[in-house]
Parts: sequence; structure tokens; C-alpha cells
Amino acid sequence: MDTLPGGLERIRESYRKKKNIDATIKKKFLSCIYNFYDSNYRHLPWRNTDNPYHILVSEVMLQQTQVNRVIEKYSVFIKKFPTIEALAQGSLHDVLAVWQGLGYNRRAKYLWQAAQIIVSQYNGKVPDSQHELQKLPGLGKATAASVTIFAFNKPAIYIETNVRTVYIYSFFADNEKVSDTMIEPLVKVTLDTADPRKFYNALMDCGTYIKQHYNFSRHSLHYTVQTPYSTSLRKVRGDIVRYIVNNGAANSTMLAQNLGYTSEKIQEALTALCRENMVCEDNGVYMIPGR
Ligand code: ADE
Repeated sequence: MDTLPGGLERIRESYRKKKNIDATIKKKFLSCIYNFYDSNYRHLPWRNTDNPYHILVSEVMLQQTQVNRVIEKYSVFIKKFPTIEALAQGSLHDVLAVWQGLGYNRRAKYLWQAAQIIVSQYNGKVPDSQHELQKLPGLGKATAASVTIFAFNKPAIYIETNVRTVYIYSFFADNEKVSDTMIEPLVKVTLDTADPRKFYNALMDCGTYIKQHYNFSRHSLHYTVQTPYSTSLRKVRGDIVRYIVNNGAANSTMLAQNLGYTSEKIQEALTALCRENMVCEDNGVYMIPGR
């Protein structure tokens, strides 16, 4: 029975010869990733639900945060905001309080705003089309596709880091720099339209496995090395939001003293946070805005 990595390596050889994905290669590819999936399925909490709101929450969390960190936060978040109405009615302060530890606080704000739009404009029902989903704050092309797939089991082209890894490993092992534009047509022809949810879950589990065993991401044009978090403005911003969420409103002197940054750094981060309405200012005092 073909599975990883040998199965994909044989597919790579066939593809090298044929130079296109015919029905035989597609069949072998699907059977290879499904064989792997059947015995290596990751039990992730958002795989036990088809509640579109819960899937939306998990996909936004998974945008830039590792699966292991999301697992714990996802359950806490769903407990605190079990329905889309509960999230829409919550305060930004409470949403940010639950979000702490996930990073990129702006995602929390966008998710909260998306919930309000879905309640007021879509009768509380998460839209099932990628096109509609993409109109919501914080949902780019990729997350809109992933919600379409995982919440509604509808086909869409979804390329994220693990999916990318499987295609590069199988079809672009000889290429140095592979763009998503090159990968997209291959996803399209191999996509299992009968069960997109299973297809992408299997791809992501295969990609995770390949990444653990081979260093493949540098073949991708989309592979970027992030600036170290410890010295970034992102960390200053994150620390400020956490401080205000935990301790209440504060002025910049208090923030500089308690967080150990220069007042210039604090001011730079506060200016950015105010511009995005993550915090607001009243007479030199900074707080999380009300609704
Ligand atoms: N990354 C993005 N979406 C994911 C999902 N549903 N499961 C695991 N990793 C993901």
C-alpha cells in the first residue's frame, strides 16, 4: 500500500516522465495521501464539528499561529463565546482577554467585527461562498477558501504552508523557487471534489509529516523568515494590549515603566494601535475601545 514518503516519490517519478497529471497520477496521489491520513489522522478539536462559526474561529486562529497553541485557545474561546451572537455581543476587551497568547491581536478584532456583520447582515449564518466570506474583515482569499472547505465541504483552491509542502515535495522537487501560481493548477486537477474537507485535512497532515522529516519550505517563494519577535514592534504592541487588558487603562509613562521599553518605543506602538482602533486615548490615558 502506497503511503508517505515512498508513495509520493513514485508519483514524482511518474510526473517527471509524463509532465502532466493524468487520471492515473491523480488516483495514485489521492490514494497515497488518504492511506497516510487513515493511519495518521490528527485529532484536532475543530475536526469534530461542522458548526460554521466554530470553523471560522479555528481558521482565523490558525492563520498565523501553530496548531498546538491554537488547540488550547480554541476550546477556551468557544466556551466563552459559544455562538456567533455571543461573540458579536461581547466587548472587544473580553475578546482580547481570551485571545492573549495567540498573538496578532488584530485578528481578534477582525473576527469580532466579522461576527457583528454576520449577525446583522447574514442573519447569523456564516456565508458559504468564498466570494462572500472574502468581504468580511480579516478574511483574505486563503481563509475564505478554508472556511468554504472545512465548514461547508465545498471545493475551493486553498494553499497554505502544509498544502504547499506536499505539492512541492511531489511535483516541484527539482525547482528552487516555486510560486503559488505554479502550484494552483496542480491543486485544481488533484482536488477531490467529492470530499474537499477530507482532501485538505489529509494534505495538511501529510505536509506536517513531510516538514518534520525534510526541509522543503525553502523551495517556496512564499517562505519568509520573520523578524525575531523579541525585538519587534509587534512585541511592544502585544505587551501594551496585554497590559491594558489585564490592568485597565494606563498612560504612556506607566506603560514604559511597567513594560521596560523606552518612551519612544511605547509612543510608536501606541500611535499604531490608536490608528487601528485597537486602543483609544482620552487625555493621555489609553484603553480598549468600547463597542
Ligand atoms: N492550518 C490552517 N487551517 C488548518 C486546519 N483546519 N487544520 C490544521 N492546520 C490548519
